[in-house]
Amino acid sequence: MKAQQKWLIPRLGVNIDHVATLRQLRGTPYPDLLTAAKIVETAGAQQITVHLREDRRHIQDADVFALRKKIGIALNLEMAMSPEIVKIAHKVRPDWVCLVPEKRQEVTTEGGLDVRKYRKQLGTMIQGFHKKKIKVSLFVEPDEKVVALSHELGADAVELHTGRYCMGMQKTLGKKSAAVAKAEFKRIKDAAVRGIGLGIHVHAGHGFDCENVRKIVALDLIEEYNIGHAIVCRAVLVGLDRAVREMVAAIVAP
Ligand code: PXP
Repeated sequence: MKAQQKWLIPRLGVNIDHVATLRQLRGTPYPDLLTAAKIVETAGAQQITVHLREDRRHIQDADVFALRKKIGIALNLEMAMSPEIVKIAHKVRPDWVCLVPEKRQEVTTEGGLDVRKYRKQLGTMIQGFHKKKIKVSLFVEPDEKVVALSHELGADAVELHTGRYCMGMQKTLGKKSAAVAKAEFKRIKDAAVRGIGLGIHVHAGHGFDCENVRKIVALDLIEEYNIGHAIVCRAVLVGLDRAVREMVAAIVAP
C-alpha cells in the first residue's frame, strides 16, 4: 500500500538537550542555549526540540520559557506524563508536546510509551493540551496496534521510536545487529503506513545519524524527524578547530 502523504519535504526538529548537558556539567553560562537555537534555526531546521526531564539534568524550566519567547521556529517539548511538567507545558504553550516514558536512572529515553496501560490518563491529558491549542505527539514503539490506539485516543501524531533500528545499523548490538536493523526497519515501515492510513501524523526519532536516517527517509513516509545526539556530537568535531584557534589567539595575542 502506498501511503498518502500530504507534505513534500520532511521537517527536522533538532534536539538541543545535550547543549544544556554541557552547560549543566559545570554550571557555566555557556554554551548559551538560545545561541544554539538560533544557529539551528539559521541552518534550516524547522523545530527546536527539548526534553524537560523531571530530574532537570539538562534543560531547565527557564530555558523552555526563553525558547518559547525567542525562537522563530516551532517548539516541541518532550515530557513525561507528570502533573508538575504538564502544568509547566500548559504555561509555556509549545507548538507540540511529545509525551515520553521517563525513568530516573536511564541514560536516555529507552522505549516507547505504554499507551495501553495509560490509555485513560493519556486521553484526558491530550484533551487538556488541545484546550490550550497544543498539539500532542506520543513517543511509541513502531507497532501498528499502538499507532492505532494513539489515533483512537486523539493524539495528533505518533513519534516512532527508532532507537533499536539505529543501534542495529550502527552495529552496536553485536552479532544480532543486522537482523535487528532489518526487523525494526519493517516495523517502522508498517507502523508508518498504518498511521498515514488512519490520518495521524507520523514522526520518528531516537538514535539517528546522517547514515542510518537515509534508509528511513527513502521510505517517504515520515513527516518529521527529531534528532539530537548525533548532531551535537558532530558539532563538537566540526567546531573544535575554530574553538582551539580562538583560544590560541587569546593566549598569543591577549
Ligand atoms: N525523540 C525523542 C522522543 C527523544 O526522547 C529523543 C532523545 O531525547 C530524541 C527524539 C532524540 O534522540 P537522539 O538524541 O538519539 O537523536
